[in-house]
Amino acid sequence: MQQEQREIVEAFYDGFQQQLIKDYLLGNPRIVAAIRFMQEHIRAECTSILDIGCGMGWSSYEFARFFPGAAVLGVDISSGLIRLAGRMFSGANLAYTKEDVTSASFSLGQPFDAITLIDVYEHIPVSERSGFHHHLNRLLSSDGQLLIATPTPLHQQWLREHAPEGLQPVDEDVTLEDMQALALALGGQLTVYHYHSIWNTNDYFHALIERQPKYQKLGRAGKPARLTPKFWRLLRTLRRLSWRNNPIFEPDNLKYFLKTFFSTQ
Ligand SMILES: C[S@@+](CC[C@H](N)C(=O)[O-])C[C@H]1O[C@@H](n2cnc3c(N)ncnc32)[C@H](O)[C@@H]1O
Repeated sequence: MQQEQREIVEAFYDGFQQQLIKDYLLGNPRIVAAIRFMQEHIRAECTSILDIGCGMGWSSYEFARFFPGAAVLGVDISSGLIRLAGRMFSGANLAYTKEDVTSASFSLGQPFDAITLIDVYEHIPVSERSGFHHHLNRLLSSDGQLLIATPTPLHQQWLREHAPEGLQPVDEDVTLEDMQALALALGGQLTVYHYHSIWNTNDYFHALIERQPKYQKLGRAGKPARLTPKFWRLLRTLRRLSWRNNPIFEPDNLKYFLKTFFSTQ
């Protein structure tokens, strides 16, 4: 990404903190579904997970809890979000670092057994995809798994027509053909691709690309995926963030928040 575009993107996501804190507190169903999908499909024996575009660290934290034998690294282009992640979620097997994954100099040393992207692939400019695939190719272990959750082109089209204010600085269409091309670029197979209906029919898809697909039990020895319950999420947010940073204390939010909090997971 050119420096100028990188600055625009980084500034936008630095300003995304309140949104992500709200998503965490209220249990945004898009993120809940994506984390569960990934927990269920990452192999139990996985020892390293790279969570690209980790935002405030919620998904990285859930992976670190669910796979205690794996070292989890969350990366994000926004220094504000990386700082927030460090304040909100810590753990012996959890770390964060600021990285622009489209940068030619993006490099992390060792390969990872699993790489996750929750609502991130659509924010990689199409012009940067081949460079990004090159990084993924290097960063994925020889039998690694790449897991992607992304809006479908149907949802992107709907946003463009009805809610353009919901679009982010880079917001591309991602198709089944794009996932097949990515699988090919990584020398892997597209073993899962399914549509999800989160708010509207078929608005998101989940995909899994595997270098050496295996036949074995799912997730952590087949245990069902579990996320931090909403009460603990509320407590954690109250304890770790000052009232200034905490969207629950914004007067306009309080009523809405309490109503929604008690009716969501
Ligand atoms: C829509 S948010 C999703 C955040 C989180 N994964 C979630 O689902 O709530 C997109 C995330 O990707 C990050 N991101 C966008 N472009 C990036 C890039 N080039 N390198 C690293 N992170 C990037 C943003 O900072 C942001 O945290």
